[in-house]
Amino acid sequence: ENQPSVLIMIFGATGDLAKRKLFPSIYRLFQKEKINKFAVVGVARRELSNDEFQANVKESILTFTKEQENVDEFASHFYYHSHDVSSSESYIQLKDIADRLDSHYQLEGNRVFYLAMAPEFFGTIAEQVKEQGLTDTNGYKRLVIEKPFGHSFESALELNKRIRTAFEEDEVYRIDHYLGKEMVQNIEVIRFANALFEPLWNSRYISNIQVTSSETLGVEERGRYYETSGALRDMVQNHMLQMVALLAMEPPIRLTTEEIRSEKVRALRSLRPMTKEEVNQYFVRGQYGAGTVNQENVPEYRTEHNVDPESNTETFVAGKLMIDNFRWAGVPFYIRTGKRMDIKSTKIVVQFKDIPMNLYYNTEETLQPNLLVIHIQPEEGITLLLNAKKTGGDVKSTPVQLSYSNKSTDQLNTPEAYEKLLFASMRGDATNFTHWDEVALSWKFVDSISEVWENTKESSFPNYEAGTSGPRPADELLESDGHFWWPVE
Ligand code: BG6
Repeated sequence: ENQPSVLIMIFGATGDLAKRKLFPSIYRLFQKEKINKFAVVGVARRELSNDEFQANVKESILTFTKEQENVDEFASHFYYHSHDVSSSESYIQLKDIADRLDSHYQLEGNRVFYLAMAPEFFGTIAEQVKEQGLTDTNGYKRLVIEKPFGHSFESALELNKRIRTAFEEDEVYRIDHYLGKEMVQNIEVIRFANALFEPLWNSRYISNIQVTSSETLGVEERGRYYETSGALRDMVQNHMLQMVALLAMEPPIRLTTEEIRSEKVRALRSLRPMTKEEVNQYFVRGQYGAGTVNQENVPEYRTEHNVDPESNTETFVAGKLMIDNFRWAGVPFYIRTGKRMDIKSTKIVVQFKDIPMNLYYNTEETLQPNLLVIHIQPEEGITLLLNAKKTGGDVKSTPVQLSYSNKSTDQLNTPEAYEKLLFASMRGDATNFTHWDEVALSWKFVDSISEVWENTKESSFPNYEAGTSGPRPADELLESDGHFWWPVE
């Protein structure tokens, strides 16, 4: 098998993401022999020796993978550069390290610049790596960039311009880690590989689609960031809209990066825009009050660390998206996401329309609609809800479930999102990364909501108790259409 050779420079190598996700992911790729010609330079402000950095890497592996096989050999590929983001001299030193590692490990000049640090430095780093010649290489050069990609359309555009002075669009890998999740990647396969679904995947047969991503965690130590973001920018602009795009897009003519991403762009372009007056008819915001989550008493959002005691920031969003194209006219896509809810779960429910006539109606039971449930996490699988005959004398119907669980069939843990995305970036497959056009459209849509919300204080905040399924208006949003949220358990 063709193993990619690569030098990865991780900016923000002493941070949480590197420790929790990136080192363990690279380790798994190494253990599976998907990579062996590689070196990693950890780049961060702190002073560390290579030895100290390697010790950190080993500790991260032991803590987060619970494995230690070959860990010394693995860690020997890691080097450290103590960096000053705004000093040209520091980039020149980094280039020197990169060139040496490149020849030592025979990496063919292939370079991945992974930005896993405060976003205010993204632009500077991209410009500097070009100016100081780090991108001047015989192999490929790719920029992998974490969220947030801007704070609004304007700031994202500004950031994109700066990045593009050093990297072409097809060299930029914008991470949305939901696109690395096994079951998010499965949406397309379920849709486009089954005769059963695609013919029904439209407004004639689908009543509505519900996408819920609920979390039990609060804002933890991220109050400062979250106050400027809220659930809208943190979850809706990226993860939620990406799932909607995958559910709504037309079949691509081929499974290439360009074809898939351009269909997603078209789906996002079809999102119905809202006037200022309409925003609060289509979208609901919430903020958690004190409550009980997993049997533990937790405080209200407004008393969390680094949070304004009168904060107007939303920790919950529910919304109704209309996709104004031929396929979806009239079918609501409901989305819902929040912190400090009752359970940690991401799930998609596709509700099919009722059949024209119910022969099995009786006074106790009404026929329940067919549902296709895609379980993204923590369980991974699919459930199909059908009606079948109730066992016994009378001809009555009863709901039955056909369930497929990803884990139990394959008998192995599905690889983590980051493992897949990192490997894809080394192989040059940008399919599961967001194209600039997707980012731009998502921001424009989200901006139209935040413009209204930021200029009107929500007097009902806090409006949901921690440990619940969100504020009452989120239910009313569906009730007014004659629908309800299917329970997520
Ligand atoms: C991140 C958000 O993008 O996604 C976090 O910044 C959120 O606030 C996280 O907790 C959720 O990801 P997952 O994979 O746990 O659903």
